[in-house]
Parts: sequence; C-alpha cells; structure tokens
Amino acid sequence: MTISPAFLDEIRARVPVSAVVGRKVKLQRAGREWKGCCPFHNEKTPSFYVNDEKAFYHCFGCGAHGDVIRFLCEAEGRTFPEAVEQLAGEAGLPMPRETQASRAQQERLKGLVDVMAAAQAWFAEQLHGIAGAEARQYLQRRGLLPETVRRFGLGFAPDKRDALKTALLAKGASEALLVEAGLLIAVEERASYDRFRNRLIFPIRDGRGRIIAFGGRILGEGQPKYLNSPDTPLFDKGRTLYNLDLAAPPARKTGSLFVVEGYMDVITLAQAGLDAAVAPLGTALTEEHLRRLWRITPEPILCFDGDSAGQRAAIRAAHRALPLLEAGRSLRFVTLPEGQDPDDLVRGGGAGALTALAGKAEPLVDLLWRSEVETAQLTTPEGRAALRQSLLGRAAAIADRTVQDLYRREFLNRFDTLTGRGAQQTWRERPQENTAGWRGRGRFQPGPPPVRQETRVSLQQIRNPKIPPSTEHEIVLGLLEHPEWLDRYHEEIERFPYVDPEMARLVGHMLEASIRVPDLDKTRLDHTLTADGFGRVLAGLRTRKKQYSFSRGETNPEQAEADFVHVLHAVTRLYALDAELAEANAAIQLDDNETLLRPMRIAQERATIERELLDLAASGPALRT
Ligand code: UTP
Ligand code: MN
Repeated sequence: MTISPAFLDEIRARVPVSAVVGRKVKLQRAGREWKGCCPFHNEKTPSFYVNDEKAFYHCFGCGAHGDVIRFLCEAEGRTFPEAVEQLAGEAGLPMPRETQASRAQQERLKGLVDVMAAAQAWFAEQLHGIAGAEARQYLQRRGLLPETVRRFGLGFAPDKRDALKTALLAKGASEALLVEAGLLIAVEERASYDRFRNRLIFPIRDGRGRIIAFGGRILGEGQPKYLNSPDTPLFDKGRTLYNLDLAAPPARKTGSLFVVEGYMDVITLAQAGLDAAVAPLGTALTEEHLRRLWRITPEPILCFDGDSAGQRAAIRAAHRALPLLEAGRSLRFVTLPEGQDPDDLVRGGGAGALTALAGKAEPLVDLLWRSEVETAQLTTPEGRAALRQSLLGRAAAIADRTVQDLYRREFLNRFDTLTGRGAQQTWRERPQENTAGWRGRGRFQPGPPPVRQETRVSLQQIRNPKIPPSTEHEIVLGLLEHPEWLDRYHEEIERFPYVDPEMARLVGHMLEASIRVPDLDKTRLDHTLTADGFGRVLAGLRTRKKQYSFSRGETNPEQAEADFVHVLHAVTRLYALDAELAEANAAIQLDDNETLLRPMRIAQERATIERELLDLAASGPALRT
C-alpha cells in the first residue's frame, strides 16, 4: 500500500499521541508533556514521555521512540496499514483511493494466512499420527519435550508426492493459492506437488504470530539439511526473524535478547528457559533484521560459532551495523566454543552455560578492534599505517556524527597505546594462534572438539562425475575478476560444494579478504592471495579454459553477474539432487508408485539444470588465455 506522506502528516496532526498512548498507559501531566511508565520495558518509575506538540513519544529508559502510528504498530501489534486505517477512522479522514484498491490485496493475504495455518495444523497432525513415528523419535533423540514440540507447532511432512495437496484441496483451498503460498511446486505442464516431503516441519511466524513460512529439516543427515519456503507475498526472508513474536515480550522486560543461527538453537534455548531468542533464516543479518532487533532492545546479543565461518559472520554483522549505530544502540557478541552451536552448549551445560558467556559478551567496539588488529602487520611502519587507516575507515562508516566521533577517538587512543612504547611487547607476546590471523579465538577458549564436520564430509562424498569439476575453478576465476561478489553472495559461495580441497581453501581466504581488506579490488585481492601463498595456484587457474561469461571477464557486468549466480545455484542444486537421488534410490519399494517415480523426477530436474548450464557455457566462444 502506498500512502502519501502528506496523508500521514495529516493523521499525525489530528490525532494527539497522548490520546492513543493514554489508552494503554496511565499518563500524568509533566509541564508541556505527559509522562508514564514505559509499556516497552519493565519499570517502576516513569521515564516514558509523550509530547503532543512534537507528536512523538520517547522513553529515556529503553530508548523507545516514535509517532502515533509507530505506537500502534509496536505496542498494539498492528501492521502499518492497519494502524493508518484505524487512525484515519479516528481522525475522520477518508482513506485515499489507492488504499481501497489494496483491500483486494489484503483479502488475498488473508487467504494465504489461512492456508498456512491449515497447513501447519495438518503437518502437526501428521507428526502425531502413524506417519510421524520416525520424526517423533528423532525429536526425542534431540531432547525436545512434547510440550516444546507443541509450543513451537512442529510438524511432519510425509514422504508422499501430494499428501498435503490432497488434504488441503479437500478442505477447499485452491491449487493456485497453495502454489502462491509456496506449499506446492508447479513445474510447467506437469502436476504440482508438495514442496516438503519427508521432513520435519518448523512453522515460521511473523511478529504477530501468524504463520508465514515453513522450514523443513531432513531427518538425520543429508543435503540440503533445511529446505525453506520461497519468498511469497507473506514471507520475506531478509526481514523475518524466527520466533520474534514469542521472544519480544520477555526481551523487552529483561533487556536481553539472544540472536542465534538456527531453528534448533532457538527451540532448545526456550526449553531451557531462555525465551528471548531469535534467529535469521540461513542468511546473514540484514539491516532490516538489525532495525527490528533494536526496536526491542538497545543491545541484542549475537551468538556465533568460534570457527572461521562463524567469526566471519560476526564481523560481517558488525560491519553492517556501523552505519545504523546511534546513541545507546549497539550489539554484543558471544563467541561459542569452536564447533558448538547454542543448542549443543545448552544441552550440555544448561541455560547457565550460555548466560555465563553472555555475561562476558564482547562489545561491538572490541570485536571491531580485534578483527582489525589481528590481521595487522605491526612490525613495520607501513603496516601500522595501514591499520590506522583501516580503523578510521571503519569509524567513518558510522552515520551518527556523535557516535562516529567517539569511535574515531577510541580507535586512535587504542592505536596509540598499541603502537606506543608498551606496544612492542604486546605484539610479541601475542600467543601463537592469534598471529595466525583474525580467526584467533578472541575471548573464549575453545571447548570440546568440533562436531560439525558432517556437512562437509557428506558434501564431498556426493561428488558427481557428470558435473565438470572445472566449474568450481571458473567460479573462483569469476571471483578474482569481481571481488565485490564475495560480499554480495557470501553465504552461497561459502556453501558451494567444492570438490578440490585446494579451491575450498582458496575460497576461504578470499572470503576472509573480503571482510578484512577495505575496498577490495582485483589488484588488492591478488596481492593478498599471493601473500597468503596462493601465487602458483592462481597462475595455474588462469591458464585454464574459460567457458562462462563471468570467468572470461568480457561481457557486460550485469550479464556476467546473472550468469555467475545462476551457475552457483545450479551446481549447488545439482549436488543436492544427487544426495536426494541416492536417498530416493534407497527408499524404493516395488509396490509403491511414489517411491518408484521419485528417482526419475529427480533425474529429470537434474537434466534440466545440466542443459541450462551447457547453454550458458556455450553462449560465447570458449577462449583460451
Ligand atoms: P545450521 O546448520 O547451524 O543448523 O544452520 P541448525 O539450526 O543448527 O540445525 P541442526 O541443529 O543441525 O538441526 C543454521 C540455520 O541456517 C539455515 C536454517 O535456518 C538453519 O536453522 N539453513 C541451514 C538453511 O536454510 N539451509 C541449510 O541447508 C542449512
Ligand atoms: Mn544445531
């Protein structure tokens, strides 16, 4: 819905904030303002002020701040359009015309919400029925209690081509709606089929508790581990935080909110009594995620694995937060023992294991400082100058002038201390593992041995001779040409199933460089990798045959980027299909049409993807350099 700013101003001018706030909060006059106890955090003495002249509210305790529309959204759980509509009604303003047109849109969304709720009920029924026996066992093995399973509405999608489809059509849903909701996959001309098959189902709710998507986990090991709903009119992955609706109220009360990586982490934490935890959905934290977190609490606690991928993710989150920092608004970081996620930690040591780490959580400024210093060359003047420049660059990314200025001063002070007289000792005495790079562990000692190797091993096991092994080399060549993609497609590049361990290692270094080297361009990337000892590997790569637009570096940049993304996704999907194929082959039962047909369907999808890849590779003359 597009509503003109003028109309919104009209509403703000006509409806006094105190009138709306006053329905929820007991307000007293305080000079030209009103004050009361803040509805966004738990307090006994009033620090929440409402100013009708300026048309906003502000809490000096928790920083909650906004206008009358914002209040309805945040305190009463209205969506923006709902808040506007209600206030327009109260102000006696007729809604602008385009909003009426969007009523049809609202109806459509309502239909989607209903069908998602029906799907959730059906999945839950399956989990508790005959088909769900194995899934129930799995949940039990992972230590989830029945009441936890119920609280999170978990379910099970049976291993049938169209069980959900049949059930929901019988309840009157239309096939088109099911496709739009992402519950069915429709491939041209063929019958649509269930997206989620033989998976444990995690309903994903929005801030108001409505189900907007599902995550499906494979039972046991295999790829892809999780399959999620696609983006739909209800679901935008980059804005959604899993469990936000249940986590926000306790987080507002206590002021502490954990951000973890996965569904299982959130659920185990809740079972252990830590209700205030959310997770993004397999993507890095976006600016929109950060904004949502800050609306709840001024300093969310981000938890990351102590391994290198986890630490890269932490630094990326820190960098992303910089432009958005404001007085009193920051992040804290918990580094978990390497190879453990919060789920492992809490199952081993109870809620106390995590709250102990949270008590010592690293402030944003320390994490930034550490990540810069750990890679710096402190032994030479040029190296020290580079560090200084890089620190100032980070501070400059902060938009708020006051915070920016304070960061700059803080960094310069620390820099002077580090490089001043006492400093030589500091770097010499740094323990061996820290000199190895920023992957050094930070503040927490590594815990028990890693348990996360399964993923990588299984990816390497499913190498397939039909996918030309050169594809991964071309992807790396593409990245050497376009270092800006390293940041843009970080997760996808990281998850790509590299066959050649040398390439996996090289890509690891490239991803690291994209984080620690400011303004990484081709030349800088090349220097960094050569300094890391990859000179010969790079030279070898460059003599290879190049078949894709992005590795040749000759077509227009948009085309190259589109091709790159296509190949990255296509090959990742091919590997996943191979795993599905193996699984499907093993599950064949001669008297069951479904299991008999599945391998063939997988093979068909595989063939389509391979054909597309071939087309793409052939779309220009192959060059040798
Ligand atoms: P993890 O691999 O850490 O999974 O991915 P997890 O949540 O700990 O799950 P368990 O303990 O192995 O069951 C973290 C999150 O990344 C997303 C999911 O949202 C997951 O919860 N993800 C992961 C995907 O979307 N797809 C994948 O294939 C893997
Ligand atoms: Mn886990």
